[in-house]
Amino acid sequence: MIRVRSMYFSGTKTTRKVVERIADRLYEDLKDSGLAEVTRAGSIDFTPPGAREVPYAFDAEDVVVFGTPVIAGRVPNVLLSFLDTLEGGGAKAIPVVLYGNRDFDDALIELRDILTGKGFKPFAAGAFIGEHSFSRTLAAGRPDEQDLEVADALAKAAAGKLLQETREGAAALDVPVAVDGQTPYRPYYKPRDRQGNHINILKVKPKLDADKCDGCGICVRECPMGSISDAAPGIVSGICIKCCACEKLCPQGAIYFDDPGYLYHKEELELGFADRKEPKIYT
Ligand SMILES: Cc1cc2nc3c(=O)[nH]c(=O)nc-3n(C[C@H](O)[C@H](O)[C@H](O)COP(=O)(O)O)c2cc1C
Ligand code: SF4
Ligand code: SF4
Repeated sequence: MIRVRSMYFSGTKTTRKVVERIADRLYEDLKDSGLAEVTRAGSIDFTPPGAREVPYAFDAEDVVVFGTPVIAGRVPNVLLSFLDTLEGGGAKAIPVVLYGNRDFDDALIELRDILTGKGFKPFAAGAFIGEHSFSRTLAAGRPDEQDLEVADALAKAAAGKLLQETREGAAALDVPVAVDGQTPYRPYYKPRDRQGNHINILKVKPKLDADKCDGCGICVRECPMGSISDAAPGIVSGICIKCCACEKLCPQGAIYFDDPGYLYHKEELELGFADRKEPKIYT
């Protein structure tokens, strides 16, 4: 019995799109093979803060397509304590990271190692490109159809490995899949200004144009940090990870960033990383 699951954190939904595609296609491929009894279990979206307050435990029948965005070249550090609560229970995993066309640096190897440490068996993996959180032009509209075809190829190869394991015995997938990245992991990527000085955007928060806001509450619901005040969406009271979900999902275009360092970094990324990068899969 194989239970295909998807699990992801995804502020602006690019991670969700790729993870769901891989999981759906993996399920179809396994079902079509007729060689394994397979089900598609519900998705676990741990973007809302409340979803990170409950425990998740898996077992050897689960195959979990597990995705996070890349933040500063690594797994988002705000997720580390939550990830530490996972119980893999021998489930197989496909770690997936989404990055905004700069680089995924050590994010994929870090995610693979975290999952291995929590009792998962990562046997296939992928690094995909999503529209950069900060931008509407950098990797605009990605993942696109071309990217999703690569997601399908990853699912197909993963299905092949699972079926081979079913035929040849359990040991086949015990070695974690080899992926790009360095250990020890490099430090979090730091944006720099023209003089090479570090631009610190940690404390930057979005602002509200109150004249445009109609109080719909979407930003309040979509903020993965639960940091936008219910009473007045203009107030970002807690941690802001600059995921830009509030800005991109606001139907009125009422949310914006005006911090000069942040805007400089965004423009520098748009200019410096305009050339299309392609997804990489590991099987
Ligand atoms: C604070 C922050 C840091 C980021 N750092 C990187 C990075 O180091 N490299 C990169 O290519 N993209 C980076 N991105 C872009 C996201 O990884 C990318 O847009 C991803 O598709 C977002 O996933 P989501 O739509 O699931 O939120 C960063 C985004 C944010 C918010
Ligand atoms: S999503 Fe936009 S319009 Fe809706 S409450 Fe937030 S800021 Fe106002
Ligand atoms: S306030 Fe910050 S963390 Fe919350 S949705 Fe907006 S950009 Fe993301």
